[in-house]
Amino acid sequence: MTDAPLIDPFARAITYLRVSVTDRCDFRCVYCMSENMTFLPKKDLLTLEELDRMCSTFVQLGVQKLRITGGEPLVRRGIMTFFNAMTRHLEAGTLKELTLTTNGSQLDRFAADLHAAGVRRVNVSLDTLDDKKFADITRWGRLAQVIKGIDAAQKAGLRVKINAVALKGFNEDELFTITEWCAQRDMDLTWIEVMPMGDIGNEDRLDQYWPLRDLRASLAQRYTLTDLTERTGGPARYVQLQETGQKIGFITPLTHNFCESCNRVRLTCTGELFMCLGQEDVADLRAPLRNYPKDNAALVAAIRAAIERKPKGHDFDYSRQTVDGRVSRHMSHTGG
Ligand code: GTP
Ligand code: 5AD
Ligand code: SF4
Repeated sequence: MTDAPLIDPFARAITYLRVSVTDRCDFRCVYCMSENMTFLPKKDLLTLEELDRMCSTFVQLGVQKLRITGGEPLVRRGIMTFFNAMTRHLEAGTLKELTLTTNGSQLDRFAADLHAAGVRRVNVSLDTLDDKKFADITRWGRLAQVIKGIDAAQKAGLRVKINAVALKGFNEDELFTITEWCAQRDMDLTWIEVMPMGDIGNEDRLDQYWPLRDLRASLAQRYTLTDLTERTGGPARYVQLQETGQKIGFITPLTHNFCESCNRVRLTCTGELFMCLGQEDVADLRAPLRNYPKDNAALVAAIRAAIERKPKGHDFDYSRQTVDGRVSRHMSHTGG
């Protein structure tokens, strides 16, 4: 039966596909990229039609949530053609959610079109509300441009969730400012522990690492926190702040491993499938896709074989005061 759902060796159903549509980005965040990145030649990229065929095959195999990532997904030329192509799966009811993770720089241009394509929620990465610090951490970014993008997204009716990487000595002092800014704008907020991805050179992960259990304790000094059981299909665990009503998420690959409920795999813009963000194993889906332009059997077989190899989880670990479980590729390769 070709349409049987994708189940991995640990009985986890794979229903969430993250798709990195480009390795390029208009920012150079210090924890994500080095300043001088070499990007892929265009011929290696899946075309928009190939991305459509790839994602449609996953949808046929039971994937219900597609998250488009990058690099920065909105810098991929013609990307709306791809979003618009995915709308048919939303309309058919096979796809439950089409969404993206973005740095926000291009949202001003794209928000209305994304909403028209059926996107209802976007995650915007934003680590600071200070112009100078924003320019420092993104190297190339401008905060005003991102705020303009968030304004446009909200105006277009998109729900916005802010993703902030928790960085010691960088945004610790903004915990309450960022929380209140999100509350005022009716946006949820998720904090992410910094992961050892890519050889970024001068940055020291241990110095940067701000454990979310500490962040949570600081929040609890000002607000009353209630743990929520609801999930969005991602790894975040949520609490509600009684005083503001808003939800705060915690993504804790280091302090609390959530791999046992992992439901996702990651496709890169060259058609590689990573079965885990924190492991090196990868399967090539571009060859079976390109070698058989009219027949999906080889592609389906390659996807199933890859899912059979999905590992139990990542091995990121800072607990011995060293960075263990490091992964050599940059975060921009798989889009987080
Ligand atoms: P929603 O829950 O749908 O809002 O999405 P999400 O949290 O899955 O997506 P988002 O792109 O906002 O993810 C935020 C970050 O969490 C990613 O960029 C990664 O850094 C991290 N993350 C997401 N999935 C995993 C995972 O499977 N393992 C690890 N270690 N980190 C992950
Ligand atoms: N550790 C944790 N999060 C990271 N991101 C990028 N690099 C890292 C890292 N090393 C985040 C971005 C964005 C998402 C795609 O991944 O800030 O929110
Ligand atoms: Fe670009 Fe996101 Fe990486 Fe920053 S974290 S360089 S915005 S892909």
